Amino acid sequence: MDETERIVETSKLIEEDGIENILRPQSLDDFIGQDKLKNNLKVFIEAAKKRHEALDHCLLYAPPGLGKTTLSHIIAKEMGGNLRITAGPVLERVGDLAAILTNLSEGDIFFIDEIHRMNHLVEESLYPVMEDFKLNIIIGQGPSAKTIKLSIPHFTLIGATTRAGLLSSPLRDRFGIIEHLDFYSTKELEHIVNRSATVMNIVVDEDASKEIARRSRGTPRIVNRLLKRVRDFAEVREGKITHTIAKEALNALEVDSAGLDKIDRLILTVLIEKFDGGPVGIDTIAAVISEEPDTIIDVYEPYLIQSGFIARTPRGRVVTDTGYKHVGLELPKRDIVK
Ligand SMILES: Nc1ncnc2c1ncn2[C@@H]1O[C@H](COP(=O)(O)OP(=O)(O)O)[C@@H](O)[C@H]1O
Ligand SMILES: [Mg+2]
Repeated sequence: MDETERIVETSKLIEEDGIENILRPQSLDDFIGQDKLKNNLKVFIEAAKKRHEALDHCLLYAPPGLGKTTLSHIIAKEMGGNLRITAGPVLERVGDLAAILTNLSEGDIFFIDEIHRMNHLVEESLYPVMEDFKLNIIIGQGPSAKTIKLSIPHFTLIGATTRAGLLSSPLRDRFGIIEHLDFYSTKELEHIVNRSATVMNIVVDEDASKEIARRSRGTPRIVNRLLKRVRDFAEVREGKITHTIAKEALNALEVDSAGLDKIDRLILTVLIEKFDGGPVGIDTIAAVISEEPDTIIDVYEPYLIQSGFIARTPRGRVVTDTGYKHVGLELPKRDIVK
């Protein structure tokens, strides 16, 4: 299916580039939620600054839209370094990596998004860089091939991934700081609604911001997206976002009371109607609803599991009793799955 159709799509849509930058918190204090991670980072940043050293390499893992890119901007700002951004799949050859590394300055932050999707030769050449800031480049082929060792300025690598499990252990072991971002609570999402509304200069009633928060599947990126769409509804009506307008707009967008959209509900109903609630393997689910297995694992499943609608078992995914109730279908006579 066309991804741009999906209102609760967690990956970034192209039109969002501009607004995302405007809405991005600029400092750790401005970054809402994730208190444990923020406190850890504050300590690590302060300690590195005191020693006049680069911050240790950091690995951030979380589902899309929870703040990985935002944190890398904030870390660069707090450390006073420049930020270079790239993504695993873009670094096709060691030369691509070398071109970036040799242009870094001391204390810069090098952000690699989707670091689990890096070519393995590029990944291996990154190991000595992460450890000793030395990049080995092989020139020529066969017996006349030579290795040259380039010194790279002391920088901080920030790797972001949606799937820590797909990272090889040699790569994972070379990160000094490994942090996970959790889905946000409704209270925290409500803060984000209010913060974004202020930045965008819109008025949102308290009940309305609660409603938007509740339906944002724990994800700041979705908060901002829903807020913008609800604003469109409000603008053609009375201006400010009231609870009634928020509910009407969200219903029109087919985002339900738990933040699930058509595809989430399709996954639940397919599992129930075609497979008696499971267990079903990911590849089968993917085939039935015509999605990539990776998309299901990265985008749909984490929230369905987190909200208790499906459970992961060794034999596949099963719909829980909460999941049955949510789509209003008959519970089968079976052992209760919680
Ligand atoms: N903790 C937060 N507080 C406020 N806004 C946030 C927070 N985390 C993310 N956002 C907002 O959500 C959007 C998506 O965040 P981003 O860092 O791009 O997610 P990721 O890189 O993990 O996919 C950003 O535009 C930012 O404004
Ligand atoms: Mg990102």
